[in-house]
Amino acid sequence: MSFFRKKSITSMLEEKTAAGEGGLKKELTAFDLTMLGVGCVVGTGIFVLTGVAAAQHAGPGLILSFVLAGIVCAFCALCYAEFASMVPVSGSAYTYSYATFGEIVAWVLGWDLILEYGFAASMVASGWSGYFQGLLSGFGLDLPKALSSAFNPAEGTYLDVPAVLIVLLLTFIVSRGAKESTRLNSIMVILKVAVILLFIVVGVFYVKPSNWTPFMPFGFSGVVTGAATAFLAYIGFDVVATAAEEVKNPQKDLPRGIIWSLVVCSLLYVLVTAVLTGIVPYYLLNVKNPVAFALQFIHQDWVAGFISLGAIVGITTVLFVLLFGQTRLFYAIGRDGLLPEKLSRLHPKTGAPSVSTWVTGSVVAVFAGLIPLDRLADLVSIGTLFAFISVSIGIIILRKTRPDLQRSFKVPLVPWIPLIAVLTCGYLLISLPGITWIAFLVWMAIGLIVYFTYSHKHSHLS
Ligand code: ALA
Repeated sequence: MSFFRKKSITSMLEEKTAAGEGGLKKELTAFDLTMLGVGCVVGTGIFVLTGVAAAQHAGPGLILSFVLAGIVCAFCALCYAEFASMVPVSGSAYTYSYATFGEIVAWVLGWDLILEYGFAASMVASGWSGYFQGLLSGFGLDLPKALSSAFNPAEGTYLDVPAVLIVLLLTFIVSRGAKESTRLNSIMVILKVAVILLFIVVGVFYVKPSNWTPFMPFGFSGVVTGAATAFLAYIGFDVVATAAEEVKNPQKDLPRGIIWSLVVCSLLYVLVTAVLTGIVPYYLLNVKNPVAFALQFIHQDWVAGFISLGAIVGITTVLFVLLFGQTRLFYAIGRDGLLPEKLSRLHPKTGAPSVSTWVTGSVVAVFAGLIPLDRLADLVSIGTLFAFISVSIGIIILRKTRPDLQRSFKVPLVPWIPLIAVLTCGYLLISLPGITWIAFLVWMAIGLIVYFTYSHKHSHLS
């Protein structure tokens, strides 16, 4: 059964040490992890998607959607933490499953993660563009319409130029081998959280409770669809899990860091949604920069300008992390031979995987420039939910098959917590639109074709 051949965890750790990634210092605390988490998580999801999801799916009930999605994430997050403490190597769920379930499962997950990270980056870039253009127009500068938004000839738009440019700029930075500095990250996180709090504090005085009725204009099923669509607002906490090796006291700090990130984000999401839908009737919120739009709606143009600036900075960090994650994923897959090995080649000077960086950047730029944000969002969510389910099932199986592996963090109450994660993610999955499912299945089918025609033959395990 060569499709199920596995890579040994020991060899992975050796490979990692050889690549010079080893020997990381154990110095992160639960607080650092929370900052890291909030930095990677809060972005387009809150600044843009809240509007789309409220207008199209959930109405003010989006508040409940965020609570629901946050709880589901918490269960999955614990499973990620256990995996990360067991197999602390780059590549996330792809690497975990290569060690535990075998090559074909790893490939399917890797292919799924390419969809998740790649499309998430494109989506986040279009969110960035919306706020950037909002800010420009505050200064009376407007881009030509054709270049302002994704391909939609009926509306007269062809290419989202700012989205393409920001992706290329960040790709350039990633290709220089720049590692995210924790200090810079902290400053950006504080700025980001500050503008969100500013919005809440200013906005709360303009809330008209009548805007909250009907609370669930699309029924409870709308709330669930809202949760599934808005799920991607929580993407990023798995980055916290990947820091497992650098945590001082993983058994205690890792789950704390992850859970606190989720709590802080959920709280921000719920409050912003409540204020947003309280200020503006939900059906008007289908705009590119709903948070700033709401402030303009109540004639707080100056505050709107600040918020746009904060959103732009905040979304930039998320985009950076996603691009970074995607290049490391390509790097890991290329290193194993499942995709052309060029992808794992490191630039002699910068030490960064430059080919995979530019492949990532170009593909993400094309998608960000051409595909509308809401279409991207559902695809990202379906990919994410699929990965979460696989990771959670993995925890249950591994406790049975590999009880010997060292785990510096263990999920409590196995199999119940992973099982709840699987069921709740499954529930959100089935509430995503049919068209998203079709696109997802097509993507996965292409993945299998690539595997059987290329990857299986070229794998290093061959
Ligand atoms: N969680 C990330 C965001 O909201 C993807 O932008």
